Formats: sequence, structure tokens, C-alpha cells
Amino acid sequence: MIVTSTTRKSTAVIGLQWGDEGKGKIVDLLSSQASAVVRFQGGHNAGHTLVVEGVKTILHLIPSGILREGVMNVIGNGVVVSPDALRTELEVLESRGIPARSRLKVSTECPLVLSCHIALDHAREKKVGVTKIGTTGRGIGPAYEDKVARRAVRVGDVFDTQSCRERVAELYDYHNFVLTKYFGVDPVDVHATQEELAQFAELVRPLACDSVELLSNVNGTILFEGAQGSLLDVDFGTYPFVTSSNTIAGAAMTGAGASPFEIDEVIGVVKAYTTRVGAGPFPTELHDQDGESLAQRGQEFGSTTGRPRRCGWLDVQALRRVIQINGVSRLYLMKFDVLDTFKEVKICVDYENEITTGSATSYDPSCFGAVQPVYECLTGWEEDTTSIRSYVELPRNAKRYIERLQELLGVEITGISVGASRDAIVKSNQALT
Ligand code: GDP
Ligand code: IMO
Ligand code: MG
Repeated sequence: MIVTSTTRKSTAVIGLQWGDEGKGKIVDLLSSQASAVVRFQGGHNAGHTLVVEGVKTILHLIPSGILREGVMNVIGNGVVVSPDALRTELEVLESRGIPARSRLKVSTECPLVLSCHIALDHAREKKVGVTKIGTTGRGIGPAYEDKVARRAVRVGDVFDTQSCRERVAELYDYHNFVLTKYFGVDPVDVHATQEELAQFAELVRPLACDSVELLSNVNGTILFEGAQGSLLDVDFGTYPFVTSSNTIAGAAMTGAGASPFEIDEVIGVVKAYTTRVGAGPFPTELHDQDGESLAQRGQEFGSTTGRPRRCGWLDVQALRRVIQINGVSRLYLMKFDVLDTFKEVKICVDYENEITTGSATSYDPSCFGAVQPVYECLTGWEEDTTSIRSYVELPRNAKRYIERLQELLGVEITGISVGASRDAIVKSNQALT
């Protein structure tokens, strides 16, 4: 059990939209004050970008504290781990002189993402055609299915080579039946995976840990780093166009073995507008020049797949609900500089034509295209904010926008990000960390 001590403060950092809010930047920033950074869900479907002194690092599986000396990075049990992705990521970091292995631990309870999961992900998306989810194709959904079906091969299983071989053979027997007979595609190579896991055992042996035990000995701040976003949560997101894990703060408990009393604070990360990669409802999506400008100025291409991100205005109506679900106490407003050139900036404050069916909520994703966003229009600031570092220096209309947003959301905006780099941040009146 993780024992709450007076010296420890645990904070969850959670994306509140459809991912890519800028979580990596904020976790990297806050990790200067942290002892440990823990991923607790998702897998290498994530792409978290860190820009430090002009050098860009994109992390997929490894927590965003990895650039900091003295910070322990933990991949918690709730994460599905691709052996191949982990190896590649470690090699890339180490080739750049970052001693990643010495700063990383991996829970023995993490289920593995294997080639059968990737094949299933692709086969399923291909079969459904136009109604596809638009997954990252990384095998995440099928890997989580195996976890709850109680047939997953986990990190701790790879150390017993013989029994691991048998488990993989059984798993592939099952999935190859589905792949060939149901999806009509080629089977996956069981021997290749058996060999891969024998090698993976050597790589992961020094990293493997009981993350609960490890974290119980941490003094100082633990950051729980969310992946994806709350609107992609498998329960509360725009189901079925979601990812296959719980992405909300509550998942830190099951995904890292934290007790419900462990998390002292939940920080929300929100882009100043909205983006989405993949299919599914997006009430404030733009198909006009403003949408183009957001995409271009924000360089909105996926960090994992390179796909163009769909863009639209900020959706306060959707945010209110996820702020409640997560228990968000303060926010970082990201990519604020992207709005610098707009004459008018819009915020969706309500929906019209909302169909409230079944489990009626203020944000019912089953509405699909039916809802019409109701916008509040604010005058733009039309000034470059990228070199501003203090709140008072922000243009008057920029401050108006931020303060109005704070009022609409009922949560303090604690920092405003005005560029990709680590230092491009405007602190609001309250201290940042
Ligand atoms: P994450 O998945 O939430 O960590 O976010 P991503 O890394 O996928 O996407 C965020 C993108 O925006 C990355 O390319 C960041 O380098 C970039 N970024 C982060 N904050 C800012 C900002 O304030 N302004 C601008 N222009 N870019 C930012
Ligand atoms: P980060 O952590 C944005 C999206 C996919 C797809 C859906 C399901 O960088 O914010 P999956 O491969 O998870 O089964 O795909 O979820 N998705 C993301 N979108 N950022 C991410 O991660 C995402 N991870 C998954 O595009 O719509
Ligand atoms: Mg991302």
C-alpha cells in the first residue's frame, strides 16, 4: 500500500479533451519538483512531446520525467506495454545521451501488447470500413481485451521462458483462429513472438518492479501522468469512439496501486481550442478558414501517427462534466499562442438540439452531429504572446478571455502555455507548483 506521508504530495495530471492537450509539457515542467512520475494507463498510443532548449523528444510509453536526473519514472500496472516500443524508445533516448534505463521501472503486472493485438486492431478497423474508430493501430484495444479476459501475458510472465512459450502458443492459437476464420487475414507468427519475449526478458529484468512497493518508499511529490484525454475515457468519453482504458484521474488508483487517499490534487490540461484525431463526435469542429488556421498555427498533426488532427473551438460544455468527474482543482491552458492572430475567439457554452436519451447527461456523445454549439464570441487580442512570461503583460483581451473561461469553468487557470518549449509558460497570480 502507498502510505501517505507528510512529506509526500501526489498530483494527477490529466488531459481533459480528446488527447494531445500538452500533458507531456506540463508533466516535464512539474517534474522539476517531483521524485517520481508514473504512467497508469494507455500504452504507446500516446505521444507526449517535450521541447527543452530547442530539442524535441516524443515519448510514447516512458513517463515525461525521464529527462530529469533524480526522478524515478514508473510504468504502472495499468499500462499495456509493447516490448518492441519500449526497446525502441529506450534506444532512441540513450542514443541521445539520456540514461533512460537507470531512471525507469516497469511493473511486473503490466499486460503486454503483442503482434497478435496489432493484427487484430488493423483487421477490425479494416472490416468495419467507414464506421471505424480511427485507432492508432497500436493494438491497444485488443491488449486490454486480453487483460480483462484473463489471458494476457504480463511483464512478470516473461522470466519463465518455458511457461511463457506455452502461454503465447495458446494465446496465438486463439487469436489466429479469429484472424483467419473471422477476419479472413493472415495468421501471426507465434515463433517470432516467443523469440521476441525471450529477448525482452533480458531487457526488462533490471527494470521490473513491484510498483506499489516502489512508490510506497518515495518521499516527495509523485506525479501521475495521464495519457489520452477524458473524452476518450472508455466509460465517460464519446463511446464507442474512445480508447480502451479509463483515462480519468480515478484510473491512477487501479493503474498504479495508489489508494483513494493518495492523490492530493488533480491538475487538468486543456488546449485553448479543441482537437481530435480519429473518428467520432466533435460538436465544435470547424470546416472553415478558422479550422484551417488552428491546424496550421497549432501544427496539428498526431505525435504518434502523424495524422492531421481535426480542429474546433473550445467546448466548455464538455469540459464542465470532465472537470467534475476528475475533481480538477486547477488548469493549465495550453497552446494559447495559437489564438494570437484571431479577430474573434469563440467558446462553446451550451448545446442546442441536444438529444437526451438513456443516461441523459449534459454532454451526451450519442448526439453525434445533431447538437449545435451555442457560442460566446470574444474579441481577439491580435498580438504575439509567445515571449510573454508574466500575466500582467498579456494583452487586455487575452486576459479577458482567460478570466471569462475561468468564470465559465469555475476552476482556477494556474498557467498559460504560449509555446512548445519548457519555459514558454505564463504563471497566473497563484504560484505554479
Ligand atoms: P500530449 O499528448 O498531451 O502530451 O500532447 P502532444 O505532445 O501530443 O501535442 C501537443 C503539441 O503541442 C506538441 O507538439 C507540443 O510540442 C506542442 N505544444 C505544447 N504546448 C504548446 C503551446 O503552448 N504552444 C504551442 N504552439 N505548441 C505547444
Ligand atoms: P496522447 O496521450 C490523441 C485516439 C485515437 C482513436 C482512439 C482509439 O498523446 O494524448 P486507440 O489506438 O487508443 O485504440 O485509439 O483514441 N487516441 C488518441 N488521440 N492522443 C492520444 O494520446 C491518443 N491515444 C489514442 O486516435 O481516436
Ligand atoms: Mg499526444
